[in-house]
Amino acid sequence: MRTSLLFVTRSCAAVHRLQQSPFFSPVSALWRHISSQSCRDDRRSFYVTTPIFYVNASPHLGHLYSAVIADCLHRYKLLQGFNSQFATGTDEHGLKIQQAAEAAGKDPLTFCTDVSERFKHLFNSCNISYTDYIRTTEQRHRQAVKHFWSVLWNKGLIYKGSYEGWYSTQDESFLTESQVASALDSSGKEIKVSLESGHKVEWMKEENYMFRLSAFRSQLLDWLRESPRAVQPERFHRDALLWLQEDLPDLSVSRQRSRLQWGIPVPGDPEQTIYVWLDALVNYLTVAGYPDKHEQRWNVAHHIVGKDIMKFHAIYWPAFLLGAGLPLPQTIYVHSHWTVGGKKMSKSLGNVVDPLECSKTFTTDGLRYFLLRQGVPDSDCDYTDDKVFKLLNAELADSLGGLLNRCTAPALNPDQVYPSFYPQSFHSEQGGRAVAEDYHMVEAVKSLPAVVQQHYESMHVYKALEAISACVRQTNGFVQRHAPWKLDKRDSRDQQWLHTIVHVTFECLRVYGTLLQPVVPGISNKLLSRISVKPDERSWEHANFLPRFQGLDCPFEGRELGSDSGVLFSRLERQNIDKQKPKKAKKLK
Ligand code: MSP
Repeated sequence: MRTSLLFVTRSCAAVHRLQQSPFFSPVSALWRHISSQSCRDDRRSFYVTTPIFYVNASPHLGHLYSAVIADCLHRYKLLQGFNSQFATGTDEHGLKIQQAAEAAGKDPLTFCTDVSERFKHLFNSCNISYTDYIRTTEQRHRQAVKHFWSVLWNKGLIYKGSYEGWYSTQDESFLTESQVASALDSSGKEIKVSLESGHKVEWMKEENYMFRLSAFRSQLLDWLRESPRAVQPERFHRDALLWLQEDLPDLSVSRQRSRLQWGIPVPGDPEQTIYVWLDALVNYLTVAGYPDKHEQRWNVAHHIVGKDIMKFHAIYWPAFLLGAGLPLPQTIYVHSHWTVGGKKMSKSLGNVVDPLECSKTFTTDGLRYFLLRQGVPDSDCDYTDDKVFKLLNAELADSLGGLLNRCTAPALNPDQVYPSFYPQSFHSEQGGRAVAEDYHMVEAVKSLPAVVQQHYESMHVYKALEAISACVRQTNGFVQRHAPWKLDKRDSRDQQWLHTIVHVTFECLRVYGTLLQPVVPGISNKLLSRISVKPDERSWEHANFLPRFQGLDCPFEGRELGSDSGVLFSRLERQNIDKQKPKKAKKLK
């Protein structure tokens, strides 16, 4: 009893803090409704995380992508009635951060705070509705890491040994001989690089602590074989299984303090610093409340990660957790990368896209929509301004915005209401005017919530948006086909048919607006408010389409429309976009 009271108090306090935060403003009404629920009961829990972001460079488009995917899943779960928690934050220890701070002439903590604030600012600007923002330099995290280390140590899973092999500071990763290749650096000198990332590697020989990773190979294999959905999409699950076919050597989990000072010291050995990846992965537990009261959240953890860091999440992390006797994450959703003009985004190529600039040019919702509509988890996607421009104009401005505009315009809707549905005017047998395509559309929109739900659940958001977009096109076809602007308003049958057309279109828009909330919260709010859907009528269970067609009551019929707050999404003009260039990420000062 005490625990649950404590939990409710804590989540109400969190909700209160969030209500004050600026990034909830576009959906504040919906948020009020959702938060009032979270103060009320103990609904099913859900916990989603992004990777924590390195602070050695400014945020770029790929970082925002990880965060937008997680935000979409979190918002979707809230609409489904879950008590969802969403963690993001920054990864602030390690050699490359130490070196970046040195290069910037700042003390490491000041340097980390500055860059961490940039990430936070980006996320707040892009409506990333995190419920916890963790920094690995926080005290609560140090405690969690030290505790976690001690558990592994006490179980005999960490031993003092010596490591000899390749190390990539850029990836903060240890590599075997088969994972490196020779290459030439910019001055023509031969160097060794990581085959996977292309980053330079160096030979390292140190005495440090080793984790008995090799002892977990068969348990990891069992886990992956028994849980085919633990790593998604399937192609990455297969990759994880393949890795486990190879040798799984023990893993070095500390560095000599003389080389790496910027990190958490090994408990009981101030000469050693905990390996940054062990430190970083524990952030997920820190946010869950580890070591004191993490169970409720930890049992329902889902990670979003980019493909480059999958091994750390699908192999090392589960092995650490098994070692510590903790449950494994429910799902590791892996996404692919964004390239720019066909090339990997990189500082040296100067093609790194600044997401904050993009969100100013294309709007926050515009950028979110683009990333989730074009981003395919299985394969890399290419970013160009031109693609964003075309997609947003076609789908948000013309198709969705045009539909709303048509049916709310005084010419078709002089009374500014959600008009009535006249069943007889829709039934062809009763002399109505609906045709076969209209019934197909009704069927498609009716089944849309289930289709979208399935795609959101598997993080194939692009498929969900594709399905919604196809339905929006069908609805536009419906309006175009029946040309309601040609109907005679003095004729009562024409008038009934006009009302029915607008009613059906509003019903379509209501379903689209509801289902789009996780992707474009601002646009959805504007759309739903305009067609008079109240904040407490926007959850997933309200996405039942056209109840009047099923002989049920429709609570919206006859309602006055909400105020007109302008076009849903303004068409982007190419000249304006070109003027706002450049969108390249700024250098750290
Ligand atoms: N700090 C580690 C993660 C530790 S989690 C315990 C890290 N940070 S990162 O800043 O380099 O990357 C964070 C996320 O951004 C990763 O999911 C990564 O895949 C993603 N992206 C980095 N570049 C990307 C693209 N070009 N495209 C899409 N996402 C990319 O790794």
